[in-house]
Amino acid sequence: MRPSWVFLLAAGSAVARPQHVWENSSTAIKAPSTHTPLPSMVPISTPASTKFLDTASPLINLRSTTNESAGTSKRGLAYKADNVLAAWSGKPVSWAYNWGVNRGPMPSNIAFIPMVWCPTGTNVDSWKSTASSAISSGARALLAFNEPDNSGQCGISYAGAASTYQEYMNPFTGKATLISPSVSNSVVAGQGLTYLENFLRACNGKCNIDAVGFHWYGDAGNASNNLKAYVNKCIALAKKYGISSVWLTEFGLTNASAQQQADFLHSVLPWLDSNGAVGGYAYFWCGDGSLMAGTAISSPLGQAYAS
Ligand SMILES: *[C@@H]1O[C@H](CO)[C@@H](O)[C@H](O)[C@H]1NC(C)=O
Ligand SMILES: *[C@@H]1O[C@H](CO)[C@@H](O)[C@H](O)[C@H]1NC(C)=O
Ligand SMILES: *[C@@H]1O[C@H](CO)[C@@H](O)[C@H](O)[C@H]1NC(C)=O
Ligand SMILES: *[C@@H]1O[C@H](CO)[C@@H](O)[C@H](O)[C@H]1NC(C)=O
Repeated sequence: MRPSWVFLLAAGSAVARPQHVWENSSTAIKAPSTHTPLPSMVPISTPASTKFLDTASPLINLRSTTNESAGTSKRGLAYKADNVLAAWSGKPVSWAYNWGVNRGPMPSNIAFIPMVWCPTGTNVDSWKSTASSAISSGARALLAFNEPDNSGQCGISYAGAASTYQEYMNPFTGKATLISPSVSNSVVAGQGLTYLENFLRACNGKCNIDAVGFHWYGDAGNASNNLKAYVNKCIALAKKYGISSVWLTEFGLTNASAQQQADFLHSVLPWLDSNGAVGGYAYFWCGDGSLMAGTAISSPLGQAYAS
């Protein structure tokens, strides 16, 4: 996640604006930010007694099938506040994540997918037990580190990511779809897909990865073609390392009206849904001013994601 949360929080209805050199972005040409994460960008901490309540989820463990789209939607919600979830009850959304491990009640059509945001500090304290509970409650996947290639987010070396991935993710092999760290689409040297490939190489076949995680942000101009080309590039890279699935865990436009974003979603969602190599995707993000107006699904943007 590389949003300008300061702007987002100040303006309320603003769309997050990633600030470094995104592929494909012709306007956002700033150097990577070295800002430390704001509180809203790191996992939300909720009482330890929070229970996983996914037993009514229709989701299946995707490792047990060769058809990842069977019986479920690939569409997910990247959210922060629990009170936005109720509006998505009965909508074509099957999973949600909040960059962390703790959750509140979920609509029955939505399964919570935990993320180990970074292999450091409090992010890992309760990871193994919460991930186990989530799986036994129906979570079909686990997400590893958020933008390890970005110093403003997890920001760790690819070698460190490869060894800690084995420590925190490998124990769940065969129990859930294990998703690699989600890299940014920065085109700065050593970031984005270059980082991803360095990470996969450093794993040397020892990281058990079922799907590659990645993000995409771009300008509105030619956006759907650029997104599709980028997704295809990521799929090809994953295949090179024997991985047949990718999850687009954040995506969106950096500078666009709600109508432009809705048009973009109408264009790319059917393509993502029908692409057999795409296991899941989540628009960035689901909160007031983006997909939502308060706690209701907004129009036209939210409606584009809800239909
Ligand atoms: C981004 O797209 C523009 C035109 O849409 C193109 O000129 C530019 O080379 C692209 N940049 C990258 C990094 O692919
Ligand atoms: C996967 O499941 C979907 C939805 O049920 C179906 O349309 C599609 O044909 C299936 N694909 C394969 C390869 O079985
Ligand atoms: C639109 O994007 C695609 C994929 O990145 C690229 O091949 C094509 O040249 C772009 N078209 C324009 C008009 O920029
Ligand atoms: C955002 O889009 C508007 C309208 O197309 C344009 O005038 C403005 O320069 C853009 N801003 C940035 C930062 O790209």
